[in-house]
Amino acid sequence: MKTKTILIVDDEPSMRIALSESLKSCGYKVEVSGSGADALEKFQEDKFEVVITDIRMPGMSGMDVLRGIKKISSKTPVIVITAYGTVNTAVEAMKEGAADFIMKPFSIDHLELLVKKVVAEKQGKREGKSKHNLKGCLSRKKTIITEDKKMLALLELLKGVSGSKSSVLIQGESGTGKELIARYIHLHSGRADMPFVAVNCAAIPYNLLESEMFGHEKGAFTGASRMRLGKFELAGGGTLLLDEISEMDVQLQAKLLRVIQESEIDRLGGKASVPVDVRIIATTNADLKKYIKDKKFREDLYYRLNVVPVNIPPLRERKGDMPLLCGHFLEKYSRLGKTAKPVLSKEVEQLLESYNWPGNVRELENVIERAVLLSGGERILPEHLYLEKEGESRRQPVEASLKLVASEDTTLKEMEKKLIFKTLEKAEGNRTRASEVLGISVRTIRNKLNGYKQGSGVRRLEGQRVRG
Ligand SMILES: Nc1ncnc2c1ncn2[C@@H]1O[C@H](COP(=O)(O)OP(=O)(O)OP(=O)(O)O)[C@@H](O)[C@H]1O
Ligand SMILES: [Mg+2]
Repeated sequence: MKTKTILIVDDEPSMRIALSESLKSCGYKVEVSGSGADALEKFQEDKFEVVITDIRMPGMSGMDVLRGIKKISSKTPVIVITAYGTVNTAVEAMKEGAADFIMKPFSIDHLELLVKKVVAEKQGKREGKSKHNLKGCLSRKKTIITEDKKMLALLELLKGVSGSKSSVLIQGESGTGKELIARYIHLHSGRADMPFVAVNCAAIPYNLLESEMFGHEKGAFTGASRMRLGKFELAGGGTLLLDEISEMDVQLQAKLLRVIQESEIDRLGGKASVPVDVRIIATTNADLKKYIKDKKFREDLYYRLNVVPVNIPPLRERKGDMPLLCGHFLEKYSRLGKTAKPVLSKEVEQLLESYNWPGNVRELENVIERAVLLSGGERILPEHLYLEKEGESRRQPVEASLKLVASEDTTLKEMEKKLIFKTLEKAEGNRTRASEVLGISVRTIRNKLNGYKQGSGVRRLEGQRVRG
């Protein structure tokens, strides 16, 4: 069978890379476009099996791309990527003939499943029957790095229970590796060849979560112009991860409980129940016992989910893992940035050791990623580290917590770079918010970041030349 070629349209270079790399790893051929105009030009010359386009782009928008493609080839499925909270755009796109939409933030697995689904639907139409082969792509295996006794015992225990269909409740602070553990369970279950689908109960707007989970029939509500499968059905035969379960609305909790008990779902607007075979893993970083006391979480659901309880200790309670984790992330980000692997200076080792890590492994990963970028692949020094001060709230408004102290030997360029990184960090990577705070355009931030990356590459090349 001919390899399917997918066209990805997004103005964000990092997004283009992430999407194309993951779809390539699933065996698709991928081409990318940085603008709508370029995409339509490419599309004229080459027909693509599927087009994935971001909606919000400067110049020609994703809606225009969708209309343009439908004009050239009405049968080509187009998947649109919409931003959080822009339901209307998604509805409009479906009316204009989009095959489906996916809302940011989304997991790559979900996108892969959507691509498989729209390809299957298209083939189904061609062959006069609908064939669904929604196997997830498991090529991106992430390893759990640990030599901590508690963690190793936990992994051993999980290997044993993975094979069963029992629900798992993973509790742990933010960034401790809950999703990683969920994937580990999936990979060690008999379901590894089937999809792993994640729903973030906190990120999906309250009124959309039900249809996200259970799907809807055509005409179930205004704008439901076609039938849409929910995550339960997409995860059929596999594993469904219900992330941040504490944020699920209590009424929906009742429906979830029924689904777990009966192993069948009701699509919104549907007349008959649909049987589903799904292993459920839920995660939370909230104190569910307190939620139960406050009547925000159903006790019966809690016991249904907590058949296999998993508690992941915070990083500060397993500092023995620090050297291993640091080495792993240093390796990863120097490889990605194509720079030499830097070493940690003694002071940096001490700083990392004495820090309390409120954001756990994710925070450590982010700190190392930035340090690798700033150090340019040589030695990581204290000034390359951005650690939060003790007592500083983790979610302060960007402006309030932005303190930048210039020392005499910092150049203006370095100051600017620090300011941009610091602001991005406070804005949790959101470039739009960072650009608002800094009073520069998103494009400028992007160009600067690209400049820094190239800068570190140049330095490395120069270093090699000197050494050679
Ligand atoms: N033991 C580990 N080894 C390697 N990487 C890890 C480990 N633990 C966490 N990570 C990495 O840290 C990041 C955060 O992990 P993950 O998303 O699983 O955390 P989480 O507990 O689900 O966080 P949140 O509560 O914020 O959703 C990921 O990039 C993950 O790959
Ligand atoms: Mg998570």
